[in-house]
Amino acid sequence: MEIGIRLFRSVILGLAGNPAAAALSRKYGMKLGAGRFVAGQTRDEALNRAQELNAQKLVVTMDHLGEGVRTDTEADGYRTEYCALITAMKERGIKGNVSLKPTQMGLALHEERTYARIRSIAQTAAGCGMFVRLDMEDSPYTDRTLRIVAKLRAEGLTNVGPVIQAYLRRSDHDLKSLTSTRTNVRLVKGAYKEPARIAYPKRQDVDSNFKRLIRSRLDSGVYTAIATHDEKIIDWVKAYVKRRCIPNTAFEFQMLYGIRTPLQLSLAEQGYTVRSYVPYGTMWYPYFVRRLAERPANVGFVVRSLLKR
Ligand code: FDA
Repeated sequence: MEIGIRLFRSVILGLAGNPAAAALSRKYGMKLGAGRFVAGQTRDEALNRAQELNAQKLVVTMDHLGEGVRTDTEADGYRTEYCALITAMKERGIKGNVSLKPTQMGLALHEERTYARIRSIAQTAAGCGMFVRLDMEDSPYTDRTLRIVAKLRAEGLTNVGPVIQAYLRRSDHDLKSLTSTRTNVRLVKGAYKEPARIAYPKRQDVDSNFKRLIRSRLDSGVYTAIATHDEKIIDWVKAYVKRRCIPNTAFEFQMLYGIRTPLQLSLAEQGYTVRSYVPYGTMWYPYFVRRLAERPANVGFVVRSLLKR
């Protein structure tokens, strides 16, 4: 069963970087059912969704979809969009922050120029009292992403923080270093295809490491975002913080837009901070494929969406 799931994940994730599949999906657009996971193709649509979520006691992190850009012009365009997004969020009084992908800002091309673009976004956000999360992508970018975060924070831009992936064997070490600088971190299981040499291949090992990382952060008192839809882990966190008298203000839960919405609302009702990750834009294909790989049943959902047309 475990081997079957791993094989399924590997095949589906392989499609994320496939240009022919990407072109096909663009042609069929939202008919594939991507609308379940993506809040809209335009900024305005996504801002409207964010306001609705705020009204339901959820805070948001907004993500303008895009990754692996091939030119500086494209990366500059994403930088401009993020600055406009932050300003629009502030104007509309949206309770939230933004998440971006370093390769969307050009990390596959040039580290210094990527750093400069992210710095300009972080400065705009700081002016609006807003936090900027750097999503963590596949392992070739881990060191460079952590370097950019460290450099920005050393410059005084402490409104920036990274993501740590529990499937990576190195994460315990990385997290300790981030905790020592009191960096706000989002903890996740990890969504990319990685070799067993650097990442735990078995789900139960990833889950155990995830809990280990969560525990070390909750014990440290440094603010932490726990991003998962795994109800067993969420229940475990709730019991742990209760036992240790850790206040709800020391952490938050995060979940993706369109996934486990009733659970998001119920946790918010119980008094936990719940942040919904709200992606938008036209470059939704790789994001969508990662969501399919996380849950075999989602592929059935796509097939049903196609058949309904
Ligand atoms: P797990 O995969 O065990 O799922 C637990 C349960 O949740 C499933 O049984 C199912 O019911 C539900 N579920 C999970 N995924 C689902 C899906 N796609 N569709 C429907 N139901 C689903 N990764 C990364 O590498 N870098 C990053 O920067 C981020 N950022 C990020 C932000 C936020 C807010 C979240 C919630 C997640 C990420 N991730 C991420 C993705 C993360 O690494 C992981 O792949 C997914 O969260 C799925 O793992 P779970 O922890 O939910 O557990």
